[in-house]
Amino acid sequence: MSGAFLSDIQTLRKRAREHIAQGAVTPGYRADRATVLKLLNEALATEIVCVLRYKRHYFMAKGIHAEGVAAEFLEHAGDEQQHADQIAERITQLGGEPDFSPDGLASRSHAEYVEGESLEEMIKEDLVAERIAIDSYREIVNYLADADPTTRRLMEEILAKEEEHADDLANLIEGIAK
Ligand SMILES: [Fe+2]
Ligand SMILES: [Fe+2]
Repeated sequence: MSGAFLSDIQTLRKRAREHIAQGAVTPGYRADRATVLKLLNEALATEIVCVLRYKRHYFMAKGIHAEGVAAEFLEHAGDEQQHADQIAERITQLGGEPDFSPDGLASRSHAEYVEGESLEEMIKEDLVAERIAIDSYREIVNYLADADPTTRRLMEEILAKEEEHADDLANLIEGIAK
């Protein structure tokens, strides 16, 4: 079948050579790169704030002898760190710079850093943060649609993980209520 939707190979090759310095970003990239980079840096801040909050909760929960819950917090902290790294990686692939600056980190983040007094409060705050991440990542996925499938797929994977986290936390709350 002739190229009903694919550009012909010669054109693809020529374009690839012309824009080598742009790395993974080809002229066929249809998203607004500045907006995508801004959204990704907000997602990066969100993940970093989640790592910090889960770490705080992990060490505090250990202090109140809630080993099972503490282990869950630690696992989530590790997942959020992985998300932060994946997002930072994608930012550089798109020719941007990952913003790791502590200045303004909390205001770039969608989710909040709340310490929480009791174990139950910690879990609830984590659940709120996950639900915020779920909503904002879903919006990012919808915004990207077909304009940047790679970033969209990454955010879809992360979104699925945040939904798992929210579910884990809801189960923990139920367990504590009993
Ligand atoms: Fe995450
Ligand atoms: Fe999460």
